[in-house]
Order: sequence, then C-alpha cells, then structure tokens
Amino acid sequence: MITPILLCGGSGTRLWPLSRKSYPKQFAKLMGEESLFQASSLRLSGEGFGAPVILTGEPFRFIVTEQLAAVEQAPAGILIEPEGRNTAPAVLAAALWLERQDPQALMLVAPSDHVIPDAAAFRAAVQAAVPRAQAGDLVTFGITPDRPETGYGYLELAKGADAGAATPQPLARFVEKPDAARATEMLAAGNFLWNAGIFLFSAASIVAAYKAHAPELMAGVTAALDGAKSDLGFTRLAAEPWGALEDISIDYAIMEKAENLAVMPYTAGWSDLGGWDAVWRESGPDSDGNVCSDHATAIGCADTLLRSETPGQEVVGIGLEDMMVVAMSDAVLVAPKSEAQRVKEAVAALKAKG
Ligand code: GDD
Ligand code: MG
Repeated sequence: MITPILLCGGSGTRLWPLSRKSYPKQFAKLMGEESLFQASSLRLSGEGFGAPVILTGEPFRFIVTEQLAAVEQAPAGILIEPEGRNTAPAVLAAALWLERQDPQALMLVAPSDHVIPDAAAFRAAVQAAVPRAQAGDLVTFGITPDRPETGYGYLELAKGADAGAATPQPLARFVEKPDAARATEMLAAGNFLWNAGIFLFSAASIVAAYKAHAPELMAGVTAALDGAKSDLGFTRLAAEPWGALEDISIDYAIMEKAENLAVMPYTAGWSDLGGWDAVWRESGPDSDGNVCSDHATAIGCADTLLRSETPGQEVVGIGLEDMMVVAMSDAVLVAPKSEAQRVKEAVAALKAKG
C-alpha cells in the first residue's frame, strides 16, 4: 500500500491574479472541472493506494477538507504547518508521522500543481517503481526535457541507464535549478531528465537520508511533531520549533546530497503549471495559437492567452501577439508571455504598496 503525501502549502504567486494568498493556484480550477489539488488526490487513489496525507498551511485547512469531500476522498491525516518552510521540513514531518505507524510504509510525495493527463499511466509508473523503493532507494520521476528550463531540477542518468525504460534507472546526480548556461548544456548532453518533483520512498529510508544530510531539520521537525496538537482531524505542528527551521526544499536539502537515488522515466505527459505561459501551452491553443476562456474573444490575435475569470465580464483582445491577459473582478494582468516568470513581482509590488 502506498500513502500519497500531497504538498499543497505553496503560494503560487506566478499565477496571480487567479492565484491569491488566501486561495493559491492548486485550489483553483485552472484546467477542467476539478482543481489541481483535487485532480492530484484522485490520480493517486484506487488499487494499491491508501488514503492521502495532506501537508498544508493554517489558512487552507478548510479549503482542503471541502475540496476533498467534494471528490469523495477521505484523508488519513492533515498536517498543518504553522508557517511555510518549503518542502524539506514538510516532507520530513509526513515521513516521521508515517514512520511512527509503519517504518516500511511507502510514501509517494506529490506536488498539487501538476498536470498529468494520463492518470492510469502514471499509477502504473508508480507501481513499477515500488520494488526499488522497497529496496531502500529514493526514487524520483524523470521527464524528457524539451527546453533549457531553469525552474526545474535535472537528473543525470548513470552510465548505461536507459531513459526509455519502464523500470527505475540508476542516477548519477541531481542538479536543482541550474542557470541558463548549465541548463542548455544539460539539454544538449542528452543524458539528463527533468525532475518531476514527485518522489517514492519508504518512510524509513527518507528519514535515514535526513539523519545523514539534514540533522538540524531532523531535530526541529521531530520537536514540532512531538509538540503537535490534534483537533477536528488536523494535526497542528508546534509553532516554536517549526518557526526556527531552515526554509529549504527537499531538492537542495536531500536529493542533491543523497547517493541512493533512482529515476523512473515517465513519458506519458507531465507539466508543472508554473506560470501563465504553461497554462497557455497546456490548454491546447487554437490554429492561431490563442487560448480564450468563456467570455473572452480574440480578434486578429496570435499566440495569446485571454481569460475572463468573472462571470458576465467580457474580455476582448485585438491585434495582440504573444500576450497573456487574465481579468478578475478586482485585478487584471496584461503582459507578454515571455515575462510569465515575472508575475510574482506583481504580487511583491502590490504587497509593498500595502
Ligand atoms: N505543504 C507545503 N509547505 N507545500 C509546499 C511548501 C510548503 O512550505 N512549499 C512548496 N510547497 C508545495 C507547492 O505547493 C508545490 O505543490 C510543491 O510543494 C513544489 O513546490 P514548488 O515551489 O512548486 O517547487 P518548484 O516547482 O519550484 O520545484 C520543484 O518542482 C519541480 C517540478 O515541478 C523541484 O522539485 C524541482 O526539482 C522540480 O523540477
Ligand atoms: Mg512547482
């Protein structure tokens, strides 16, 4: 039995103005009828999967319970982080929580902001990785790269590894978020995959990795779990030890350092909806390259995203090229798609204005 560990504490500022501090992108219906969070939970349910453990922040606890109930998913636990400390502490909290019940428990750590269209293929890939995880390896899922993306981690395949295999392959190295020059080199080298940010391991083996590579986190997160308070089905981690933890991702804290890594190649489609350019790409642009929501009209536009997020509000673009327009009732974003990664600056600028 695999326990899905769903990370949904991020703030998703690059998808402003749809993604808000109080309602970040993973809970929004960005594509289709379900939120990305609901889709992630459903994707990891069914045969071989147990009830999920959710890691989130205090402000999102009721969004989580409501959205799970709406798709008839019952969580095994909801751990509340007193504040965001990135993914390394969050994954460790889940691992320690699970290890206390069953050290050999397998955990599938998944972000809740990905698009994975073929859920059955993904579940099959997870199952194919189970023996390696049971043997004690930390298994990552690897995507064939098609551009020198700097927002992802890169996985260097070991000599003789097969990027097209249907079983986990040995990994030489994990490189988190390279600069543009390094990313271009790795793409050209041909023996790198992108890290999907999805991991499979046993609770005992990831805890051992933290003991070896991040002993301060080990001490702090253990204290936060020991001091946790439970009410209404939520496990609230203790604020004081949690607040003192380093803010660091699992990629930097563990994956770049661990030696018992393996990668399960995954080729059936994956995208991190990291910005509006990705939403445009994943939404299937029409023959002019445009993506228009309901109540949005493109006249003489090319390669443009037009979204009206307010019922009854019409958005019209004329003669736009490579633009993205997202109109909410209280905020409108207009920018070239090439600036998609800078949208988080809008959030910072508005925050500074107060
Ligand atoms: N519970 C919780 N607490 N979740 C968090 C926190 C936190 O403090 N911080 C981030 N998350 C969640 C986000 O909501 C997201 O679902 C997931 O953890 C990953 O965080 P991101 O901030 O989106 O990471 P990233 O996209 O920059 O990089 C990671 O994913 C890439 C692929 O999408 C890395 O693993 C990269 O190596 C990888 O390529
Ligand atoms: Mg991400």
